[in-house]
Amino acid sequence: MKILAISGSPRPNGNTASLMEVVLESAKRTNPNTEVVEYNMHRLNCKGCQGCLACKKPEVETCVQNDELSPILKEMLEADAWILGTPVYMGHTSAQLKLLLDRMYCFTGPNRTVRIPKGKKCIFVITQGAAGDRHKDIIDLFSRFMAWRGVSTKFVRAVGLTLSPGFTQETLEEANALGKWVIRQE
Ligand SMILES: Cc1cc2nc3c(=O)[nH]c(=O)nc-3n(C[C@H](O)[C@H](O)[C@H](O)COP(=O)(O)O)c2cc1C
Repeated sequence: MKILAISGSPRPNGNTASLMEVVLESAKRTNPNTEVVEYNMHRLNCKGCQGCLACKKPEVETCVQNDELSPILKEMLEADAWILGTPVYMGHTSAQLKLLLDRMYCFTGPNRTVRIPKGKKCIFVITQGAAGDRHKDIIDLFSRFMAWRGVSTKFVRAVGLTLSPGFTQETLEEANALGKWVIRQE
């Protein structure tokens, strides 16, 4: 079991990273043989999608850009599960995470074929400063995006956060449950 964890938060020890860590620790406790590889979009030297549509050619495997993200996109196709994280920025994902989502366009091949192998799971970790559901649009968008691509996706969100992580018992339980869910063979 290989999990790829990709954070879209520029703060390496911030709220998003901390909540992602709760999920990852739970997954590792559930199956100690779990391999976890972590990346932070903010640390990668990469650009947004350039709209060249080279990825729609049958002979192309993934994005053709020559940067630090392209091999990670390939690794995403090979991994069993993804844990993606973002803070809410102006009601949306961070720009860093949006860049990743755009580059994931290469997971759709010619004639809208899906290059993502079946059985992939994804956990989307969202943190926000305000109370309430400022993250709702992100969940709606990403649910549709992943459903169309056949990826089984679940969300965990933490709201009302300050700059130092402090999660409610309910959020911690949700994050722990998702760590177990991602490991379970279904
Ligand atoms: C540029 C920026 C925009 C933000 N926009 C929102 C927002 O629209 N709604 C909200 O609830 N919180 C917003 N916040 C607060 C962050 O979502 C919140 O502090 C988050 O947990 C930070 O995650 P991090 O510690 O991983 O960076 C914003 C923070 C920043 C820096």
